[in-house]
Amino acid sequence: MKLISAVIRKEKLNDVLAALFENEIHGVTVTRVQGHGGETEKVETYRGLTVKMELTEKIRLDIGLTEPFVERAVGTILKAARTGEVGDGKVFVMPVEKVYRIRTGEEDADAVTPVLVGA
Ligand SMILES: Nc1ncnc2c1ncn2[C@@H]1O[C@H](COP(=O)(O)OP(=O)(O)OP(=O)(O)O)[C@@H](O)[C@H]1O
Ligand SMILES: [Mg+2]
Repeated sequence: MKLISAVIRKEKLNDVLAALFENEIHGVTVTRVQGHGGETEKVETYRGLTVKMELTEKIRLDIGLTEPFVERAVGTILKAARTGEVGDGKVFVMPVEKVYRIRTGEEDADAVTPVLVGA
């Protein structure tokens, strides 16, 4: 299992969520974050201090999935989140040791398999 943690533009959230849904990736955590992409900083002087880090509002998506879904999910995010301008964001893929579904106690792949409501 992997955890995809993607930082994207706020304006791209709806596009990315729609694209993920179309690709059958349905479990996601959305967090508003602030970040800094390392671009050449605007250096300002404030009371003798040099302020270098300008933070930008971004969105982080966290998605837990099994290996077969990782490539598709990453590809979907790369495509839907891209404008081509600096600041489009980043996608991190991390190994996940364990996943538990709280309701059932299911573990790992069983715990991230989407459940069809009413099925
Ligand atoms: N190395 C990193 N570690 C953690 N978060 C990062 C890292 N790089 C970027 N981010 C997050 O992604 C956001 C957008 O980064 P950004 O798109 O500017 O990355 P970049 O590498 O500078 O790419 P670009 O050249 O397209 O601007 C940042 O505000 C930050 O939240
Ligand atoms: Mg940048």
